Amino acid sequence: MFGEAKFCKGIAGSILIIIITIQRCKELGNSGKEASSDYIRPGPGKVLSTVHYGSDSDPQQVHISLAGKDHVRVSWITNDTTAVSIVDYGKKSGKLSGKYKASATGAHETYDYFFYKSGEIHHVKIGPLDPSTTYYYRCGGSGEEFSFKTPPSTFPIEFAVAGDLGQTEWTASTLKHVGNKDYDVFLLPGDLSYANAQQPLWDSFGRLVQPYASQRPWMVTQGNHEIESFSSIEEEPFKAYNKRWVMPFLESGSTSNLYYSFDVAGVHIVMLGSYAPFQADSDQYKWVQADFAKVDRKVTPWLVVLLHAPWYNTNTAHQGEGEKMRKAMEALLYQARVDIVFAGHVHAYERFTRVFNNTANHCGPMYVTIGDGGNREGLALDFKNPPSPLSSFREASFGHGRLSVFNKTHAHWSWHRNNDSSATVADGLWIETFSGSNACKEHSSSSKDEL
Ligand SMILES: [Fe+2]
Repeated sequence: MFGEAKFCKGIAGSILIIIITIQRCKELGNSGKEASSDYIRPGPGKVLSTVHYGSDSDPQQVHISLAGKDHVRVSWITNDTTAVSIVDYGKKSGKLSGKYKASATGAHETYDYFFYKSGEIHHVKIGPLDPSTTYYYRCGGSGEEFSFKTPPSTFPIEFAVAGDLGQTEWTASTLKHVGNKDYDVFLLPGDLSYANAQQPLWDSFGRLVQPYASQRPWMVTQGNHEIESFSSIEEEPFKAYNKRWVMPFLESGSTSNLYYSFDVAGVHIVMLGSYAPFQADSDQYKWVQADFAKVDRKVTPWLVVLLHAPWYNTNTAHQGEGEKMRKAMEALLYQARVDIVFAGHVHAYERFTRVFNNTANHCGPMYVTIGDGGNREGLALDFKNPPSPLSSFREASFGHGRLSVFNKTHAHWSWHRNNDSSATVADGLWIETFSGSNACKEHSSSSKDEL
């Protein structure tokens, strides 16, 4: 009944786990950075098993993402290989009539991973859509109706942000808190399912997030847990991630699903790939350089970047892992006058002041680490002491953030710690974008002089 049931659970499955464990140990030994020996992770939440109760043709793991101007990509999986990649949609519910005003067709594909074969992964792009509008939709020509709300065309707009999500009781708690207050777009700076090569966990992750990801666009970038390549088992990195979580890279002129950008309301968001080549001769570097050059701050006054391994980090976990990328790309972001950089990877919350080249700089981005979504590895409890004067707030707790962009000059950032039954605002501040200030004109000769 279940596609993931095709995954061999017998001797072959055990061999896979043993080989992967050996490979994993080698990797940890090589990097020495996955978790330092004196770093005690607290009891992680229990991993949730989210099952599919429908038929093989019923859509599951439904999620949506922004896919170019006024378009949304609808993605889902069926275990039925003959299911069609059709989305019927409209502003009126078709629950009773079975009719929708519009329809679009896409494509589907599967992938193999060792002994696992995925279900049919469908992607259908729909639009043009009106802003701030609820659309009702149905996947595959029949079955359950879903709905989503499109983001606004201008301010105000609100983003929910959480990285290193996983699929534990803490993940469920974070998602519940995210869903308790309306928002427009969910941003995830890497490490989604923590499947760690156990492909059925990608399926259960998709089912866990469906109630949220089917209602609001989820825009993600990759983390180290998405790599999933192991010699002699699976050579192709990011195989499951790239098949399941297609982002608008083609729409943004990128050649890789690992880095892309999009506009929403008056915000230009750039998703970078911490695990794709980033040096000056790399495709990613050249792409982001060209992407920044095209940004018109009169159209998108706000410029936000997401990546996985933080460039600034005072936690003892993952120290220095983002340093090579910082050295390669930080000047690009500084010259472009990026407002905020969100990172994940470290399972804690930390907010820095505006920084450039390890020095407080009022023209540099504000850096935020928000890898506190709730995965099974637990929290990164140990921060370095004495605290860095660049680090404004740090705490090892699960939670999520909210970026409320009120207008072309002002936004409010808040961090919401997960309490048992409620989300508590533990950190927050107002931010003013550079585009409203003459002090840090982007791409100006004076700004380059500061380099
Ligand atoms: Fe990570």
